[in-house]
Amino acid sequence: MAAKRLGFALMLSLGLLIPVFGQGHKDGCAPEELESQQNTLAGYLSPDFAGDYDLAIANLFRLGALYQSMALRCGYMPSEPEIDSMLEQALRFVTLEDLIAAQSVGNDVAAILLDLQETYGDPLAGQLLYNGLEPALGGVALGCAGCHENEAVAPLTAGTWTRIQDLRLQQPEFRDYSHRQYLVESIVQPMAYTIPDYAPLMPDFYGSQLSSQHLADLVAFLDSQDQLPDDE
Ligand code: HEC
Repeated sequence: MAAKRLGFALMLSLGLLIPVFGQGHKDGCAPEELESQQNTLAGYLSPDFAGDYDLAIANLFRLGALYQSMALRCGYMPSEPEIDSMLEQALRFVTLEDLIAAQSVGNDVAAILLDLQETYGDPLAGQLLYNGLEPALGGVALGCAGCHENEAVAPLTAGTWTRIQDLRLQQPEFRDYSHRQYLVESIVQPMAYTIPDYAPLMPDFYGSQLSSQHLADLVAFLDSQDQLPDDE
């Protein structure tokens, strides 16, 4: 039985290591590669329900998950009912709060910056989030624009990129900061630095409401705000 488990683990890691020959497909997603992976997996599915029931249904479950992640990785977009049913199943084991927490970026700036290296930010999606027109995690609408469109309350959205480049990063305490690091810290740890002349009003819970994709989108949007002070 232990040997079987080991075999399964080996096969899992093999699946990840299958070399890439395909062109125009993601790694391991060319038709012949998918076919060979699928044959390997199918070969592994020889459930011995009578012999070792627990192991057999565990393998059934793991193989199913493996097939799904293979399809997702190769670009399959689940339909609404499929997403609903995956969610329904997940919610039998974890709470919605746990699911949201598992997806949120948190507020460890160094870890987030590593994460963002792999995430392409879409400025338009960021703008919709920023203006509360698309929901963040858990369906919440972000109130960024509510404060940042009013200069008396918070630094203006327009010119954020320029302001960070020309003012903030020139200050000695940000000498070692990258532009992105400053933005990420401002969003997930607003109290780490508060800008003189403003009341420290910005909520400190965004790390729990944003996925890394959301944060990447917001950063991309703010990076597009490169108006000069006079343009405002
Ligand atoms: C309740 C008001 C409020 C909300 C909501 C709010 N902010 Fe802020 N924000 C502020 C204030 C006030 C400051 C300046 C003082 C400080 O640093 O806390 C600030 C600072 C910033 C800065 C630094 C700007 C600079 O010039 O250095 C960024 C970037 C930022 N906010 C982004 C966001 C984003 C993104 C959201 C939404 C996810 C958001 N804020 C929501 C009030 C708000």
